[in-house]
Amino acid sequence: MIASNRVPPLDGDSRAGGLAIALRPVLAERGGLWLGWSGRTSASPAGRARLADAGSFAVATLDLTEQERSRYYDGMANCALWPVLHGRLDLARFDYADYTAYRTVNRRFADALLAEVGPTTSVWVHDYHLMPLGRMLRNRCVRGPIGFFLHVPFPPAETFAAMPWALELVDDLAAYDLVGFQTRACVQNFLDFVERHRLGRRVGEDLVTIGWTTVRVGAFPVGADTHGFAALAASPAVAARAARLRATAGSPLTIASVDRLDYSKGLAERFRTVETLLERHPEWAGQATLFQIAAPSRLLVPEYRAIQGELEALSGRINARFGMVDWTPIRLMHRTVDHAQVAALLRASRVGMVTPLRDGMNLVAKEFVAAQDPDDPGVLVLSRFASAAEELPTALQVNPHDVEATARELRTALQMPLDERRERWRTMMEHLAVHDVHRWGRTFLETLSNSRSGAPANR
Ligand code: G6P
Repeated sequence: MIASNRVPPLDGDSRAGGLAIALRPVLAERGGLWLGWSGRTSASPAGRARLADAGSFAVATLDLTEQERSRYYDGMANCALWPVLHGRLDLARFDYADYTAYRTVNRRFADALLAEVGPTTSVWVHDYHLMPLGRMLRNRCVRGPIGFFLHVPFPPAETFAAMPWALELVDDLAAYDLVGFQTRACVQNFLDFVERHRLGRRVGEDLVTIGWTTVRVGAFPVGADTHGFAALAASPAVAARAARLRATAGSPLTIASVDRLDYSKGLAERFRTVETLLERHPEWAGQATLFQIAAPSRLLVPEYRAIQGELEALSGRINARFGMVDWTPIRLMHRTVDHAQVAALLRASRVGMVTPLRDGMNLVAKEFVAAQDPDDPGVLVLSRFASAAEELPTALQVNPHDVEATARELRTALQMPLDERRERWRTMMEHLAVHDVHRWGRTFLETLSNSRSGAPANR
């Protein structure tokens, strides 16, 4: 049984952010039930979840009230937890009423889960929206293994400490049998927090005692559906779309970027990188176009609405300054696109530009690699602040805040010879072919079931 705030759209086609993309193939392979928010609000939502069939697994959804959406999702999840976890204390807003609603919604998730599971079912809870859920289930006598995975970064201890409810949230995490993070650095940040606040101590390589309970922690870097995405990108339908895209690009080379419209993604810095490249090397005008898909996201939060306008103004200014009658340097699209369109864009492009300021993993980086034509692969320009960088050392790694240096690397990527492109790509693809999303799901769930049976006098 999986619980996350966001469930995949039932049409199976559109993309709903990294978590839903990652989990769908895991559940499709194993079957099970996935509980989440329906994305809708209603005046008096039913307590019991609505069930729908998604092929090999079932999806159960709950509506929220308008006030719950505003306080639990926009408020606590997106205005408090998201900025803190991404190291943006300047954007964080803490409101006790939001925190109260957060706990209320978690309790509603617990009620809905209890209506569907037996006392020994394994439950895997995902992401920052649902940190307290495990404790609520334990308090209601669920005896099976319960694991938690954080898809986004866990920040340095002093950053997390700014959250007024930091101690309670870590105490909630102590109720899980296994708490998984994307990287060792995130595990270390979490352990630092526990030790500095004297909440507990490390009792083994991956074991920490918090209060009276012993919790296993570990790094489980999420993978892409490497083989599935590679097959999609190589399919005749996607090849035809990719050819159309190349023919209409107005330049011999394209640069691909696909993100949610989010301040953590470094979009303005990326546009300024293109501007810097054109300033320093005017000969690149007409030679390469940045295709930026920026899917609108969390638009009820003012910071998210603001960046939409900011990016339109910035790309408009750069296009007006450098554009030509038959060429536009930046094509910005504020829309959600389906998997096939993303695969076509990534396949068609000479460069994939994945340059977030901070990112839990960034599956687009991995999908870019999977989508390439082995005979003529493109080059990945990757922020070293995306956790994917740990696994992809042969990408061209950049500091996205350093626009000058990133522009130099972009130029290197655009003119990289075929032999070097093949060599760098092969190393990345060999890693991703093995470390894919299926292996991630298996490894986490196996560790979870071992953690439960081996947990010393936990409860
Ligand atoms: C990130 C989070 C997910 C979230 C996704 C999309 O990947 O880790 O939990 O679902 O962004 O954001 P949204 O707010 O639209 O669900």
